[in-house]
Amino acid sequence: MLKADWAAVAVFAFANSVLTAQAQTSRLSKWAPCPQFADLSCAYFDVPLDYHNTSAGNGQLLVVKAPATGERKGTIFLNPGGPGVSGLTSLSTDAEALMNRTGGAYDFVSWDPRGVGPYTYPGNVYCIPDDEYASFWNGTIESTGIHQIGNFTNQTDIQALYSQAPVLDQKWKELGDRCLSGPNATTLGYIGTAATVRDLVGLADAIVGPNSPINYWGLSYGTLVGAWFINMFPNRVGHVILDGVLDATRVATTQSYKLWRDQIGSAEDAYTAFTNACALAGPDNCKLATSANGTGQDVVDYVNQAIMLAHDHPVANQLLILRATMYSSLYQPQQWADYGNDYLPQTIATIQNATAGGNTTALTRREQVFTQNSYTEPAVVCADSVDADPSVNTTVIFDDIVDIVRTVSPSFGAVGPVPWQRCSYWPVRAPERYQGPFNRTLANKVLLIGNAYDNATPFAEAAHLAAVLGDQAALVKQNGFGHTSIYQSSACVTDIITAYLNDGTLPSGTSSDPTVCAIDSSVELFSGVESVDVIVNGTDLSRRD
Ligand SMILES: *[C@@H]1O[C@H](CO)[C@@H](O)[C@H](O)[C@H]1NC(C)=O
Ligand SMILES: *[C@@H]1O[C@H](CO)[C@@H](O)[C@H](O)[C@H]1NC(C)=O
Ligand SMILES: *[C@@H]1O[C@H](CO)[C@@H](O)[C@H](O)[C@H]1NC(C)=O
Ligand SMILES: *[C@@H]1O[C@H](CO)[C@@H](O)[C@H](O)[C@H]1NC(C)=O
Ligand SMILES: *[C@@H]1O[C@H](CO)[C@@H](O)[C@H](O)[C@H]1NC(C)=O
Ligand SMILES: *[C@@H]1O[C@H](CO)[C@@H](O)[C@H](O)[C@H]1NC(C)=O
Ligand SMILES: *[C@@H]1O[C@H](CO)[C@@H](O)[C@H](O)[C@H]1NC(C)=O
Ligand SMILES: *[C@@H]1O[C@H](CO)[C@@H](O)[C@H](O)[C@H]1NC(C)=O
Ligand SMILES: *[C@@H]1O[C@H](CO)[C@@H](O)[C@H](O)[C@H]1NC(C)=O
Ligand SMILES: *[C@@H]1O[C@H](CO)[C@@H](O)[C@H](O)[C@H]1NC(C)=O
Ligand SMILES: *[C@@H]1O[C@H](CO)[C@@H](O)[C@H](O)[C@H]1NC(C)=O
Ligand SMILES: *[C@@H]1O[C@H](CO)[C@@H](O)[C@H](O)[C@H]1NC(C)=O
Repeated sequence: MLKADWAAVAVFAFANSVLTAQAQTSRLSKWAPCPQFADLSCAYFDVPLDYHNTSAGNGQLLVVKAPATGERKGTIFLNPGGPGVSGLTSLSTDAEALMNRTGGAYDFVSWDPRGVGPYTYPGNVYCIPDDEYASFWNGTIESTGIHQIGNFTNQTDIQALYSQAPVLDQKWKELGDRCLSGPNATTLGYIGTAATVRDLVGLADAIVGPNSPINYWGLSYGTLVGAWFINMFPNRVGHVILDGVLDATRVATTQSYKLWRDQIGSAEDAYTAFTNACALAGPDNCKLATSANGTGQDVVDYVNQAIMLAHDHPVANQLLILRATMYSSLYQPQQWADYGNDYLPQTIATIQNATAGGNTTALTRREQVFTQNSYTEPAVVCADSVDADPSVNTTVIFDDIVDIVRTVSPSFGAVGPVPWQRCSYWPVRAPERYQGPFNRTLANKVLLIGNAYDNATPFAEAAHLAAVLGDQAALVKQNGFGHTSIYQSSACVTDIITAYLNDGTLPSGTSSDPTVCAIDSSVELFSGVESVDVIVNGTDLSRRD
């Protein structure tokens, strides 16, 4: 998650020269050790703020490289997602997993995209100063979270939410005004995804060569960058992997608040897998399991007791913190044991203590959980968003949240407000948005990967993009959990990736009949518990009832 840091915001000097449309290698500075991560190489890359309007001025991106660990065959460009995830921090943590899946034969080049971090300009998006942040959101659901349990049928909770509709309507308008008058106002429109795609192409021109085929790996939101890239520059498509797919067609055609319903579609199943795996591990290996032969439902019931406590004794955002911690646990299965033994039991103990009248100083505020002082995520997704429909207001958005809780995900539907839900109120759209078609004829076929149960990008989204691209895409289902494929290894997926990179060979998986790959048996969810213990046939979650 993005960490905003005012003090670390760097200021750069910019060349006055107007950039030509043709990429110049001189736009890239010399490689040198990266800030914070000296074992990686970094450079700066000059970009026009607006590719269609030279008088808008220039920006500068921090570019980062993890060199091939074996005999080098080429370069793969990476966007790690978010939007808002830094390429620098991402390569510092994920380069090993990426090298493992590509035989160490490729340099990975990523960058802090527009809107991200202290080193790129325009970087982090500030609208409200840190010392005003808490008072600005004080008393709103942006600070407290949404008070809700079960299927959101408690009338007190429903009334409390709707009483926030006029409050948040006002606050979200005010946030827009603050962004337009704040320190980053003049660059707010220049951080959208189309510009990021042009940055990618410019980088490839500079690093690999003009008009070279571009190898690209997009994770999560990086798949939106990827879907836009392959359709904006179909002739530049080299080997492209879209992993943890966001449905680009939906993004281009749908009011943004509606996208949350799509994204959360597998979260409940992922949580079921987590609780089943915890039950199978037993109390010795997962503290949320209360008895040796308990079921996943027993784990759910145990956590629900804490949810009820936090709901009925509302103390300083603990319900929100518990819900957010539960949701965070689903992203990276290699951390399930930490969540089951450490983070979640700790959160639950804090709630138990506080509601018993004990230590309340341990309670933290939402902003420490979310570090949202930078508005990068709404700034990017809303810059790309379709034009706001004036009939969409907070009442409409709350109706949707209540319905999502009732029909899609009782556990996580109300974990927001999430950035997509603010776009109707966001004051800016990017000067260029790519809104289709998404089935252009590509120079090379692409590889789409989705997990069976990804809490943030359901497999159905990958399947839809595969359907749109037809025989220009191969679809692989990695039969596991987490957000994107990289947190659980699968020799089957690695073989597919390396074959694809080596000679363009792809498996036959299609939208309706994906190629299914198992997680390696060496990968455990909890001690003694593998993915195959909680997943059957790629579609059913096994339960021990
Ligand atoms: C180009 O950018 C300049 C400087 O921001 C702005 O004044 C002008 O209106 C822009 N032109 C177009 C066509 O958007
Ligand atoms: C990379 O592969 C090695 C050897 O198989 C393995 O030990 C290591 O855990 C892998 N790292 C990641 C992050 O997947
Ligand atoms: C954004 O605002 C910060 C804080 O005032 C400032 O340091 C930075 O230069 C601004 N960046 C842009 C791109 O306007
Ligand atoms: C939030 O509002 C309450 C009362 O409405 C006030 O006591 C508290 O000091 C405020 N907190 C902040 C951070 O402004
Ligand atoms: C919530 O609604 C779903 C679907 O309507 C239903 O299956 C479930 O039992 C309900 N849960 C509760 C706690 O009422
Ligand atoms: C609804 O929730 C409130 C707390 O928000 C609680 O006091 C009340 O008892 C609940 N009502 C029902 C019917 O459960
Ligand atoms: C949103 O629009 C509906 C329909 O026009 C209206 O009834 C409702 O009061 C509006 N909500 C807010 C918060 O303005
Ligand atoms: C758990 O179940 C197994 C097999 O059903 C049984 O042998 C064992 O005694 C049970 N353990 C406990 C603690 O109930
Ligand atoms: C809860 O209270 C117990 C007993 O006072 C204490 O040992 C424990 O550290 C507390 N846990 C938390 C998370 O505050
Ligand atoms: C209360 O919790 C905080 C944070 O975990 C801890 O630093 C403090 O020592 C605790 N106080 C008592 C009396 O347990
Ligand atoms: C591309 O998609 C559009 C609908 O978005 C469809 O009308 C068109 O036939 C498709 N083209 C090809 C070549 O499949
Ligand atoms: C796997 O799927 C097949 C066909 O749908 C079904 O017959 C079989 O029972 C399933 N296996 C398990 C273990 O659920």
